[in-house]
Amino acid sequence: MTSLKEQLVSLERHAISDLEKIRNEQDLDEWRINYQGRRNGQLPKLLEELPKLPIEDRKEVGIAANELRDKLETGYKERLQEIRTAELQDKLLEESIDVSLPGRKHAIGKLHPTTQTIREISSIFVNLGYQIVDGPEVESDYYNFEALNIPPDHPARDQWDTLWLDYNNADGIRPLLLRTHTSPMQIRTMEQQEPPIRVIVPGRCYRHEATDATHESMFFQIEGLTVDKGITFADLKGTLYTFARKLFGEERKIRFRCDFFPFVEPGVDMSIDCFSCDGTGCRVCSNSGWIEIMGAGMVHPNVLERVGYDPEIYTGFAFGMGPERISMLKHGIDDIRHFYNNDLRFLEQF
Ligand code: DAH
Repeated sequence: MTSLKEQLVSLERHAISDLEKIRNEQDLDEWRINYQGRRNGQLPKLLEELPKLPIEDRKEVGIAANELRDKLETGYKERLQEIRTAELQDKLLEESIDVSLPGRKHAIGKLHPTTQTIREISSIFVNLGYQIVDGPEVESDYYNFEALNIPPDHPARDQWDTLWLDYNNADGIRPLLLRTHTSPMQIRTMEQQEPPIRVIVPGRCYRHEATDATHESMFFQIEGLTVDKGITFADLKGTLYTFARKLFGEERKIRFRCDFFPFVEPGVDMSIDCFSCDGTGCRVCSNSGWIEIMGAGMVHPNVLERVGYDPEIYTGFAFGMGPERISMLKHGIDDIRHFYNNDLRFLEQF
Protein backbone atom coordinates (compact mmCIF):
# COMPACT_ATOMS: atom_id res chain seq x y z
CA MET A 1 0.00 0.00 0.00
CA THR A 2 1.29 3.42 -0.89
CA SER A 3 2.03 5.54 2.12
CA LEU A 4 -0.19 8.45 3.09
CA LYS A 5 2.65 10.80 2.18
CA GLU A 6 2.88 9.39 -1.32
CA GLN A 7 -0.87 9.68 -1.67
CA LEU A 8 -0.64 13.33 -0.72
CA VAL A 9 2.00 13.90 -3.39
CA SER A 10 -0.11 12.18 -6.01
CA LEU A 11 -3.22 14.10 -4.93
CA GLU A 12 -1.31 17.36 -5.30
CA ARG A 13 -0.16 16.42 -8.79
CA HIS A 14 -3.68 15.58 -9.92
CA ALA A 15 -5.22 18.58 -8.27
CA ILE A 16 -2.77 21.02 -9.83
CA SER A 17 -3.04 19.51 -13.28
CA ASP A 18 -6.86 19.55 -13.06
CA LEU A 19 -6.78 23.11 -11.91
CA GLU A 20 -4.78 24.22 -14.91
CA LYS A 21 -7.46 22.98 -17.25
CA ILE A 22 -10.27 24.90 -15.58
CA ARG A 23 -11.75 27.82 -17.50
CA ASN A 24 -14.90 28.77 -15.65
CA GLU A 25 -16.17 29.31 -12.14
CA GLN A 26 -18.55 26.40 -12.16
CA ASP A 27 -15.80 23.89 -12.95
CA LEU A 28 -13.63 25.59 -10.37
CA ASP A 29 -16.30 25.09 -7.69
CA GLU A 30 -16.59 21.46 -8.62
CA TRP A 31 -12.83 21.11 -8.41
CA ARG A 32 -12.83 22.60 -4.96
CA ILE A 33 -15.58 20.28 -3.75
CA ASN A 34 -13.82 17.32 -5.29
CA TYR A 35 -10.52 17.98 -3.53
CA GLN A 36 -11.41 19.96 -0.43
CA GLY A 37 -15.11 19.33 0.15
CA ARG A 38 -15.79 18.75 3.84
CA ARG A 39 -17.76 15.51 3.30
CA ASN A 40 -16.22 13.67 0.41
CA GLY A 41 -13.30 15.84 -0.64
CA GLN A 42 -10.22 13.85 -1.48
CA LEU A 43 -7.95 15.69 0.94
CA PRO A 44 -10.20 15.49 4.03
CA LYS A 45 -10.74 11.85 3.19
CA LEU A 46 -7.00 11.19 3.22
CA LEU A 47 -6.63 13.06 6.45
CA GLU A 48 -9.10 10.75 8.12
CA GLU A 49 -6.29 8.20 7.88
CA LEU A 50 -3.90 10.45 9.79
CA PRO A 51 -4.74 9.18 13.32
CA LYS A 52 -3.94 5.70 12.17
CA LEU A 53 -0.28 6.56 11.48
CA PRO A 54 2.42 5.82 13.98
CA ILE A 55 2.87 8.84 16.18
CA GLU A 56 6.40 9.64 14.88
CA ASP A 57 5.14 9.96 11.25
CA ARG A 58 2.00 11.82 12.12
CA LYS A 59 3.60 15.21 12.61
CA GLU A 60 5.48 15.20 9.31
CA VAL A 61 2.50 14.04 7.29
CA GLY A 62 0.25 16.50 9.15
CA ILE A 63 2.51 19.39 8.17
CA ALA A 64 2.61 18.21 4.56
CA ALA A 65 -1.20 17.94 4.54
CA ASN A 66 -1.59 21.44 5.90
CA GLU A 67 0.81 22.77 3.32
CA LEU A 68 -1.16 21.04 0.60
CA ARG A 69 -4.40 22.47 1.91
CA ASP A 70 -2.90 25.96 1.79
CA LYS A 71 -1.56 25.31 -1.69
CA LEU A 72 -4.98 24.18 -2.95
CA GLU A 73 -6.61 27.18 -1.33
CA THR A 74 -4.12 29.60 -2.90
CA GLY A 75 -4.43 27.81 -6.23
CA TYR A 76 -8.19 28.15 -6.02
CA LYS A 77 -8.06 31.84 -5.28
CA GLU A 78 -5.55 32.59 -8.00
CA ARG A 79 -7.53 30.66 -10.58
CA LEU A 80 -10.74 32.38 -9.56
CA GLN A 81 -9.04 35.72 -10.04
CA GLU A 82 -7.72 34.70 -13.45
CA ILE A 83 -11.12 33.44 -14.60
CA ARG A 84 -12.83 36.62 -13.51
CA THR A 85 -10.25 38.81 -15.20
CA ALA A 86 -10.57 36.83 -18.41
CA GLU A 87 -14.37 37.11 -18.28
CA LEU A 88 -14.15 40.83 -17.76
CA GLN A 89 -11.78 41.19 -20.67
CA ASP A 90 -14.11 39.19 -22.90
CA LYS A 91 -16.98 41.37 -21.83
CA LEU A 92 -15.04 44.57 -22.45
CA LEU A 93 -14.06 43.33 -25.86
CA GLU A 94 -17.63 42.46 -26.66
CA GLU A 95 -18.92 45.83 -25.53
CA SER A 96 -16.16 47.94 -26.95
CA ILE A 97 -17.02 50.54 -29.55
CA ASP A 98 -14.97 51.25 -32.58
CA VAL A 99 -14.29 54.93 -32.21
CA SER A 100 -12.92 55.10 -35.71
CA LEU A 101 -16.37 54.36 -37.19
CA PRO A 102 -17.95 57.48 -38.66
CA GLY A 103 -20.89 58.58 -36.48
CA ARG A 104 -24.50 58.67 -37.57
CA LYS A 105 -25.50 62.19 -38.42
CA HIS A 106 -28.44 63.69 -36.56
CA ALA A 107 -30.47 66.07 -38.65
CA ILE A 108 -30.93 69.19 -36.56
CA GLY A 109 -34.16 71.03 -37.23
CA LYS A 110 -34.48 74.76 -37.36
CA LEU A 111 -37.10 77.44 -37.63
CA HIS A 112 -38.82 78.05 -40.95
CA PRO A 113 -37.50 81.19 -42.69
CA THR A 114 -40.93 82.83 -42.35
CA THR A 115 -40.93 82.12 -38.61
CA GLN A 116 -37.45 83.57 -38.33
CA THR A 117 -38.55 86.76 -40.11
CA ILE A 118 -41.72 87.06 -38.03
CA ARG A 119 -39.69 86.70 -34.85
CA GLU A 120 -37.16 89.28 -35.98
CA ILE A 121 -39.87 91.79 -36.88
CA SER A 122 -41.88 91.05 -33.74
CA SER A 123 -38.91 91.57 -31.46
CA ILE A 124 -38.32 95.04 -32.96
CA PHE A 125 -41.91 96.04 -32.15
CA VAL A 126 -41.84 94.38 -28.74
CA ASN A 127 -38.83 96.56 -27.94
CA LEU A 128 -40.94 99.57 -28.95
CA GLY A 129 -43.58 98.54 -26.40
CA TYR A 130 -45.96 96.55 -28.62
CA GLN A 131 -47.85 93.44 -27.55
CA ILE A 132 -48.21 90.42 -29.84
CA VAL A 133 -51.78 89.18 -30.33
CA ASP A 134 -53.24 86.28 -32.23
CA GLY A 135 -56.60 85.84 -33.93
CA PRO A 136 -58.82 83.42 -35.86
CA GLU A 137 -58.04 82.39 -39.42
CA VAL A 138 -61.69 81.60 -40.07
CA GLU A 139 -63.16 85.07 -39.81
CA SER A 140 -66.54 86.68 -40.31
CA ASP A 141 -67.47 89.05 -43.09
CA TYR A 142 -68.04 91.62 -40.35
CA TYR A 143 -64.47 91.65 -38.99
CA ASN A 144 -62.69 91.00 -42.26
CA PHE A 145 -64.58 93.68 -44.21
CA GLU A 146 -67.53 95.52 -42.76
CA ALA A 147 -66.04 96.79 -39.52
CA LEU A 148 -62.97 97.82 -41.51
CA ASN A 149 -65.11 100.26 -43.47
CA ILE A 150 -65.57 97.94 -46.45
CA PRO A 151 -69.36 97.57 -46.89
CA PRO A 152 -70.94 94.73 -48.89
CA ASP A 153 -70.87 95.39 -52.63
CA HIS A 154 -68.23 98.07 -52.23
CA PRO A 155 -65.73 97.84 -55.10
CA ALA A 156 -62.87 97.92 -52.57
CA ARG A 157 -63.66 94.29 -51.84
CA ASP A 158 -62.15 93.42 -55.20
CA GLN A 159 -58.76 94.10 -53.65
CA TRP A 160 -59.12 90.91 -51.60
CA ASP A 161 -59.97 87.77 -53.59
CA THR A 162 -61.75 85.87 -50.91
CA LEU A 163 -62.16 82.19 -50.04
CA TRP A 164 -65.66 81.86 -48.56
CA LEU A 165 -66.74 79.01 -46.34
CA ASP A 166 -69.51 76.93 -47.82
CA TYR A 167 -72.03 77.79 -45.14
CA ASN A 168 -75.15 79.98 -45.28
CA ASN A 169 -76.80 81.64 -42.31
CA ALA A 170 -80.58 81.94 -41.87
CA ASP A 171 -80.70 84.93 -44.22
CA GLY A 172 -79.03 82.89 -46.97
CA ILE A 173 -75.82 84.88 -46.55
CA ARG A 174 -72.37 83.35 -46.35
CA PRO A 175 -70.92 85.08 -43.30
CA LEU A 176 -67.68 83.13 -42.90
CA LEU A 177 -64.43 83.28 -44.82
CA LEU A 178 -60.72 82.62 -44.52
CA ARG A 179 -59.30 85.94 -43.46
CA THR A 180 -57.71 87.77 -46.37
CA HIS A 181 -55.55 89.91 -44.10
CA THR A 182 -54.68 90.32 -40.43
CA SER A 183 -56.49 93.67 -40.24
CA PRO A 184 -59.65 92.15 -38.64
CA MET A 185 -57.61 91.85 -35.44
CA GLN A 186 -57.57 95.66 -35.28
CA ILE A 187 -61.30 95.51 -34.60
CA ARG A 188 -61.18 92.54 -32.23
CA THR A 189 -58.40 94.17 -30.21
CA MET A 190 -60.21 97.51 -29.92
CA GLU A 191 -63.38 95.73 -28.86
CA GLN A 192 -61.52 94.02 -26.05
CA GLN A 193 -59.19 96.75 -24.84
CA GLU A 194 -59.31 100.42 -24.00
CA PRO A 195 -56.65 102.74 -25.41
CA PRO A 196 -53.72 103.09 -25.24
CA ILE A 197 -53.34 100.23 -27.72
CA ARG A 198 -50.09 99.05 -29.22
CA VAL A 199 -50.33 95.60 -30.80
CA ILE A 200 -48.88 93.62 -33.64
CA VAL A 201 -50.61 90.60 -35.16
CA PRO A 202 -48.55 88.03 -37.02
CA GLY A 203 -50.62 85.32 -38.71
CA ARG A 204 -51.72 83.36 -41.74
CA CYS A 205 -53.94 84.85 -44.44
CA TYR A 206 -55.64 83.27 -47.43
CA ARG A 207 -56.63 84.48 -50.86
CA HIS A 208 -58.39 83.01 -53.86
CA GLU A 209 -55.33 83.62 -55.92
CA ALA A 210 -53.68 82.20 -59.03
CA THR A 211 -50.22 81.59 -57.62
CA ASP A 212 -47.14 83.01 -59.28
CA ALA A 213 -43.69 84.18 -58.21
CA THR A 214 -45.15 86.90 -55.99
CA HIS A 215 -48.57 85.48 -55.05
CA GLU A 216 -49.52 82.53 -52.84
CA SER A 217 -52.99 81.48 -51.69
CA MET A 218 -51.64 81.11 -48.15
CA PHE A 219 -49.14 83.60 -46.77
CA PHE A 220 -48.41 85.57 -43.63
CA GLN A 221 -49.01 89.15 -42.66
CA ILE A 222 -47.97 91.22 -39.69
CA GLU A 223 -50.51 93.85 -38.76
CA GLY A 224 -49.82 96.72 -36.41
CA LEU A 225 -52.13 99.08 -34.54
CA THR A 226 -51.49 102.05 -32.27
CA VAL A 227 -54.37 104.03 -30.75
CA ASP A 228 -54.17 106.68 -28.07
CA LYS A 229 -54.98 110.32 -27.40
CA GLY A 230 -53.03 112.61 -29.70
CA ILE A 231 -51.45 110.08 -32.06
CA THR A 232 -50.43 111.82 -35.31
CA PHE A 233 -48.85 110.92 -38.63
CA ALA A 234 -45.53 111.94 -37.05
CA ASP A 235 -45.87 108.97 -34.67
CA LEU A 236 -46.54 106.66 -37.59
CA LYS A 237 -43.52 108.01 -39.38
CA GLY A 238 -41.22 107.83 -36.37
CA THR A 239 -42.27 104.28 -35.47
CA LEU A 240 -42.01 102.84 -38.96
CA TYR A 241 -38.77 104.69 -39.61
CA THR A 242 -37.24 103.15 -36.50
CA PHE A 243 -38.52 99.74 -37.55
CA ALA A 244 -37.16 99.98 -41.10
CA ARG A 245 -33.72 101.05 -39.89
CA LYS A 246 -33.56 98.25 -37.33
CA LEU A 247 -34.49 95.67 -39.96
CA PHE A 248 -32.69 96.98 -43.03
CA GLY A 249 -29.81 99.02 -41.60
CA GLU A 250 -29.27 102.43 -40.02
CA GLU A 251 -28.59 104.09 -43.40
CA ARG A 252 -32.12 103.54 -44.76
CA LYS A 253 -34.28 106.35 -46.03
CA ILE A 254 -38.04 105.94 -46.21
CA ARG A 255 -40.65 107.26 -48.59
CA PHE A 256 -44.42 107.53 -48.22
CA ARG A 257 -46.80 107.71 -51.15
CA CYS A 258 -50.55 108.05 -51.08
CA ASP A 259 -52.43 104.79 -51.36
CA PHE A 260 -55.96 103.66 -50.67
CA PHE A 261 -57.03 101.27 -47.94
CA PRO A 262 -60.63 101.71 -46.76
CA PHE A 263 -59.76 101.46 -43.06
CA VAL A 264 -57.20 104.29 -43.02
CA GLU A 265 -57.25 107.96 -43.98
CA PRO A 266 -54.82 109.09 -45.21
CA GLY A 267 -53.45 105.77 -46.46
CA VAL A 268 -49.92 105.30 -47.66
CA ASP A 269 -47.51 102.78 -49.00
CA MET A 270 -44.14 102.89 -47.37
CA SER A 271 -40.91 102.23 -49.25
CA ILE A 272 -37.29 102.12 -48.22
CA ASP A 273 -34.44 103.15 -50.46
CA CYS A 274 -32.94 100.01 -51.99
CA PHE A 275 -30.48 98.40 -49.57
CA SER A 276 -28.89 96.53 -52.42
CA CYS A 277 -27.88 99.52 -54.59
CA ASP A 278 -28.41 102.38 -52.10
CA GLY A 279 -31.06 103.83 -54.37
CA THR A 280 -29.14 104.02 -57.63
CA GLY A 281 -31.26 101.30 -59.28
CA CYS A 282 -30.73 97.55 -59.59
CA ARG A 283 -32.56 94.25 -60.08
CA VAL A 284 -33.81 94.08 -56.48
CA CYS A 285 -35.64 97.42 -56.76
CA SER A 286 -36.57 97.02 -60.46
CA ASN A 287 -34.33 100.00 -61.19
CA SER A 288 -36.54 102.37 -59.25
CA GLY A 289 -34.21 102.81 -56.27
CA TRP A 290 -37.16 102.16 -53.91
CA ILE A 291 -38.71 99.04 -52.41
CA GLU A 292 -42.28 98.93 -51.11
CA ILE A 293 -42.43 97.16 -47.79
CA MET A 294 -45.85 97.89 -46.30
CA GLY A 295 -49.20 99.63 -46.34
CA ALA A 296 -50.07 102.01 -43.51
CA GLY A 297 -52.19 104.97 -42.54
CA MET A 298 -54.13 106.84 -39.87
CA VAL A 299 -57.03 104.74 -38.56
CA HIS A 300 -60.24 105.87 -40.29
CA PRO A 301 -62.73 107.66 -37.96
CA ASN A 302 -65.47 105.27 -39.13
CA VAL A 303 -63.42 102.35 -37.82
CA LEU A 304 -62.88 104.01 -34.43
CA GLU A 305 -66.56 104.91 -34.17
CA ARG A 306 -67.61 101.38 -34.98
CA VAL A 307 -65.83 100.04 -31.86
CA GLY A 308 -67.15 102.88 -29.72
CA TYR A 309 -64.06 105.08 -29.59
CA ASP A 310 -64.62 108.82 -29.95
CA PRO A 311 -62.49 109.89 -32.95
CA GLU A 312 -62.39 113.43 -31.55
CA ILE A 313 -60.47 112.05 -28.54
CA TYR A 314 -58.62 109.06 -29.91
CA THR A 315 -56.53 108.74 -33.04
CA GLY A 316 -54.22 106.03 -34.25
CA PHE A 317 -52.20 104.50 -37.02
CA ALA A 318 -52.17 101.03 -38.53
CA PHE A 319 -49.81 99.14 -40.80
CA GLY A 320 -49.58 95.79 -42.51
CA MET A 321 -46.72 93.94 -44.14
CA GLY A 322 -45.88 90.53 -45.60
CA PRO A 323 -42.98 88.76 -43.88
CA GLU A 324 -42.35 86.54 -46.92
CA ARG A 325 -41.88 89.61 -49.09
CA ILE A 326 -39.48 91.07 -46.54
CA SER A 327 -37.62 87.78 -46.34
CA MET A 328 -37.45 87.64 -50.16
CA LEU A 329 -35.96 91.10 -50.28
CA LYS A 330 -33.44 90.44 -47.55
CA HIS A 331 -32.24 87.11 -48.95
CA GLY A 332 -32.69 87.69 -52.68
CA ILE A 333 -35.37 84.97 -53.02
CA ASP A 334 -37.07 85.24 -56.39
CA ASP A 335 -40.21 83.14 -55.91
CA ILE A 336 -42.62 83.18 -52.94
CA ARG A 337 -43.66 79.58 -53.73
CA HIS A 338 -40.30 78.34 -52.42
CA PHE A 339 -41.46 79.06 -48.87
CA TYR A 340 -44.19 76.42 -48.71
CA ASN A 341 -42.93 73.75 -51.11
CA ASN A 342 -41.11 72.04 -48.23
CA ASP A 343 -37.99 71.54 -50.28
CA LEU A 344 -35.12 71.04 -47.84
CA ARG A 345 -32.61 72.34 -50.37
CA PHE A 346 -34.33 75.70 -49.96
CA LEU A 347 -35.21 75.55 -46.27
CA GLU A 348 -31.78 74.46 -45.10
CA GLN A 349 -30.23 77.67 -46.38
CA PHE A 350 -31.74 79.70 -43.56
N1 DAH B 1 -54.61 94.71 -44.87
C1 DAH B 1 -53.93 95.32 -46.01
C2 DAH B 1 -53.80 94.28 -47.11
O1 DAH B 1 -54.00 93.14 -46.90
C3 DAH B 1 -52.57 95.81 -45.59
C4 DAH B 1 -52.67 97.04 -44.79
C5 DAH B 1 -52.61 98.29 -45.40
C6 DAH B 1 -52.82 96.99 -43.42
C7 DAH B 1 -52.70 99.43 -44.67
C8 DAH B 1 -52.94 98.15 -42.68
C9 DAH B 1 -52.87 99.39 -43.34
O2 DAH B 1 -53.10 98.14 -41.36
O3 DAH B 1 -52.96 100.51 -42.59
O4 DAH B 1 -53.52 94.65 -48.23
